[in-house]
Amino acid sequence: MGLRLGLVFGIVMCVVVCSSGVHGQLSTSFYDQSCPNLQSIVRSGMAQAVNREPRMGASILRLFFHDCFVNGCDGSILLDDTATFTGEQNAGPNRNSARGFEVIDAIKAKVEAACQATVSCADILALAARDGVVLLGGPTWQVALGRRDSKTASQSDANSQIPQPSFNLSELISSFFSKGLTAGDLTALSGAHTIGQAQCRSFRAHIYNDTNINPSFSAFRQRSCPLSGGDSNLAPLDLQTPNRFGNNYYQNLVSSRGLLHSDQELFNGGSQDELVRRYSRNGGDFASDFAAAMVKMAGIGPLTGNSGEIRLNCGKVN
Ligand code: HEM
Ligand SMILES: *[C@@H]1O[C@H](CO)[C@@H](O)[C@H](O)[C@H]1NC(C)=O
Ligand SMILES: *[C@@H]1O[C@H](CO)[C@@H](O)[C@H](O)[C@H]1NC(C)=O
Repeated sequence: MGLRLGLVFGIVMCVVVCSSGVHGQLSTSFYDQSCPNLQSIVRSGMAQAVNREPRMGASILRLFFHDCFVNGCDGSILLDDTATFTGEQNAGPNRNSARGFEVIDAIKAKVEAACQATVSCADILALAARDGVVLLGGPTWQVALGRRDSKTASQSDANSQIPQPSFNLSELISSFFSKGLTAGDLTALSGAHTIGQAQCRSFRAHIYNDTNINPSFSAFRQRSCPLSGGDSNLAPLDLQTPNRFGNNYYQNLVSSRGLLHSDQELFNGGSQDELVRRYSRNGGDFASDFAAAMVKMAGIGPLTGNSGEIRLNCGKVN
């Protein structure tokens, strides 16, 4: 086949393969020779962090989501702002909200001590997110590795590419679609809100203005989230068990007890109702679909080969 035709064929294949979550260049055995203890170092770092504060499992999972949705899982969210560099940490969805950076830094220090200049921060975050879920009782999955770290970050891309809690179902679906994820992936991945906390400012409009909410639930939440003030007061995303990964989240949606507007959009008379109902009844279906969707999300646009770098300190470009 000619060069021209070969190029076209390559592009077509990439559209097929690259968007299906199969990323030829990532591999579960990537560090088997170069850093054989990587997985146990990350696991024990996360065990220590979650032991100290169970919510940290949730916070690290969210960091990974916010990394992957902004130009791929490339560790860009980990870059700190400086006088001359504006990164993603102060974008609207992250400012005063994204947390757990010090946990990744501590794990990175241990990884560097064992395998100098070898393992990317992006891969450490991918492993740590999985381990946090497992430590809180969720499913496990294989993490393909070999991502490299970005040398840049974009505050404006973080503002425009991370979905907002005010989104309606069609906005949520198109946000995920633009990352190669389906509506079903959206519904499964939103089950991450079975763990962790949200601030009053994130759910105030939902508990005061929306009508698709259980009245005693909204009254209960309003007690610690006043109409004005208390912006950073916390409430669990999952009413019953915020430190236990399970399918309560979906049971809450079915009974109109979703905390975020975007959560309740998944069960509000639309296309995802049936799937939400199934996950609410069948925790096993949720666990396996969640794991599969995490593998897909973890494959979004990685830097591989000679792109990017292996950062020595996750907070700054080498
Ligand atoms: C579907 C669109 C999504 C929206 C609109 C959304 C929005 C939010 C918001 C507003 C918060 C609370 C932030 C705060 O008040 O400080 C939150 C927390 C959280 N989100 Fe999402 N999220 C979405 C999807 C996801 C996905 C796909 C994941 C992971 C796979 C995820 C994981 C989490 C976790 C674990 C927390 C709790 C973090 C903590 O306690 O530190 N979210 N999300
Ligand atoms: C969802 O929000 C978008 C943007 O505000 C709006 O154009 C659209 O009509 C909304 N869709 C539904 C079904 O409400
Ligand atoms: C409720 O909706 C009204 C009208 O859109 C708006 O002015 C008000 O700020 C909203 N209240 C909250 C708590 O979001």
